[in-house]
Amino acid sequence: MNPTGNRFDANLLAANLLAEMTLEEKIGQLTMVAAGDVVTGPIRAGEVADAIRAGRVGNLLNLWGAEQVRAMQAIAVEESRLKIPLLIGFDVLHGHRTIFPIPLAEAALFDPHLWERSARASAIEAASDGISLAFAPMLDIARDPRWGRIAEGPGEDPWVAATFATAKVRGLQGASLAAVDAVAATAKHFCGYGAGLAGLDYASADISERLLHEVYLPPFKAAVAAGCAAIMPSFNDVNGVPMTAHIPLLRDWLRREQGFEGVIVSDYFAIAELMRHGVAADLVEAAAAALAAGVDIDMMSDAYRLGLPAALERGVASMSQIDAAVRRVLALKARLGLFDDPLRRGCTASSGPLDAKARRDLARDVARRAIVVLTNKRVSPNRKILPLAAGLRRIALIGPLADNSADMLGPWAAVGTPGQAVTVRQGLEAALPNAEIVCACGVGIEDEDISGIAGALELCRGADVVLLCLGESATMSGEAACRANPVLPGRQWALAQAVLDLGKPVVALIFSGRPLMIPALVEKADAVVAAWFLGIEAGNAVADVLSGHFNPTGRLPITWPREIGQVPIFFAARPSGRPAYPGNRYTSIYLDLPVEPQFPFGHGLSYNDATLTNLRASAKEFKLGDELVVLVDVANLGPVAGEETVFLFARDVVASIARPHLELKGFGKIALQAGESATLSLPLRADQLCFPGPDLRPRFEPGDFELSVGASADPLRLLTITVRALPG
Ligand code: BGC
Repeated sequence: MNPTGNRFDANLLAANLLAEMTLEEKIGQLTMVAAGDVVTGPIRAGEVADAIRAGRVGNLLNLWGAEQVRAMQAIAVEESRLKIPLLIGFDVLHGHRTIFPIPLAEAALFDPHLWERSARASAIEAASDGISLAFAPMLDIARDPRWGRIAEGPGEDPWVAATFATAKVRGLQGASLAAVDAVAATAKHFCGYGAGLAGLDYASADISERLLHEVYLPPFKAAVAAGCAAIMPSFNDVNGVPMTAHIPLLRDWLRREQGFEGVIVSDYFAIAELMRHGVAADLVEAAAAALAAGVDIDMMSDAYRLGLPAALERGVASMSQIDAAVRRVLALKARLGLFDDPLRRGCTASSGPLDAKARRDLARDVARRAIVVLTNKRVSPNRKILPLAAGLRRIALIGPLADNSADMLGPWAAVGTPGQAVTVRQGLEAALPNAEIVCACGVGIEDEDISGIAGALELCRGADVVLLCLGESATMSGEAACRANPVLPGRQWALAQAVLDLGKPVVALIFSGRPLMIPALVEKADAVVAAWFLGIEAGNAVADVLSGHFNPTGRLPITWPREIGQVPIFFAARPSGRPAYPGNRYTSIYLDLPVEPQFPFGHGLSYNDATLTNLRASAKEFKLGDELVVLVDVANLGPVAGEETVFLFARDVVASIARPHLELKGFGKIALQAGESATLSLPLRADQLCFPGPDLRPRFEPGDFELSVGASADPLRLLTITVRALPG
């Protein structure tokens, strides 16, 4: 055994193998093709087997299942000349078999411990299905709900995304990559994918160097620091250079500055797409450009296999570049323990029934914590509509997502089985056995047929409360799922209006992979709840929250706009010289819309009331190298126990470069019984107050900083103190 815990020394092994490899075998190690049941490409399993045998393919994606993986691995390690095991990659984005809430929803937990636990559970399942490389976590900062992939990442804020990155990498990779239940993580998509023009997928992104360093790079820096094994460049170009060939960011920033020694795996067909970007004339140039930037594995475009031999001949690529890439791929395989025992992933006992039950319980807990109660109006002097009153006789469950299992899983549901997801109806029936629950779709998710509305209204008439289950289908978010106008699709608003006109108490549950523009619904419904896509336990999680069995604690990881015209909208904007002042048109306002969002970042209601008081810091003055502790007293005013999330923001009052109104520097959670108070401590290192200077290096400027804490980024609800940074 060597110190890495593997029987083989990764570098020595790579060097020995390299010395024996033909060019074709080397390129085989840099090639990843699809072989499996997921629809991806034209390659059939038989052809893949031949290519593995011949050493032309060293890595697969979209293959899972112990038997299937073992069959392919056996070909690689028994029938190929050099017996090199395969990397098996798969999108383990929000669960593998046990499907958790989509990442945007999971971000609403603001709980790194649970973020890590759900990733660990997913890794255990994926590894027992033979997978060794997860194409996750997705760390794209997203500030435009038109972009479908906003669903797959942790929202708008770089601090949240960096914390999420660390937790997910830890969870997926576990304590040692060589462990039988560990999978290598792939931080993706590097970078700026969420900044595509007009919210379009795959679109070009123009990002200033400042924004790159302040917003888009920090999550990847955190992933690298956490030991992330792989990185996937994004499809888009940044400032004119496609990320798949971005030498300054991939080679200079990621490899040289951050010291990333892992594997860079291209996105699907992205190397060949360099031709469509107009930066490569043919596959040879495309392959050479990606290799020069440090892309090790070509996923699905066959550019390395077809292009690299000619690139060598033309002198636009070198054998040492190829060798370096092969070395990194072999080193990862060694770190994963694949040379020790290529077949051991896929034969663990970790997916036994008891473990599966524990993972399902975890999925329920994560799902109910992801639910964000957006509004909850008073229906009588002494009660709000939520939690639902005990003893309700009849509940009308209306809408296309009321008894819908398939869509609960959300996009990238991996190998989750649609029928397994608990529907809202099933969840409520289990939670409220004494209530009569009547259910109707009224309308479909997207179609124009309104003939079902009359029947749905009939059911509502005899009900004590109406629960409207509205929103998107799972395929309306995720990859290739942009919406120019993310409102309620189809005729759902017509259904909602008709129901609201009945004058019954109405709770609207919004299922979606993004904030939907629903200002009228927010105004008229008695409560609005963001129910995202919550995964396999969706219905139970919703029932836990609506029934009051669980006091909701989810908080928005993203600013929720009123109308799409406000986009991009996020709390960390820089101040204007003419800040918004209603009534003065020569300020930063719209003539036709408020500038405030529908709901600020961090917003979310619980069934208890809490207050924050007595904000203070451990010191009033500090220097670089110091660590402050910010303290605030949190009181749960009741009537029930609850969990408060407190955000810590900073503002550099006067600096050489205009700084954002608010920058998130931390968050904390505290659980309190009804009537209980306690002090929450939030650590703040002085270097967290640095910002990229003119040379983009971190710069610490003495002077005043405002530190604010609050339950959200709503500026009107923050407590603020000023502390002073001293020189030296
Ligand atoms: C997506 C990646 C994903 C890959 C493999 C691509 O289309 O952009 O996020 O990992 O497919 O499934």
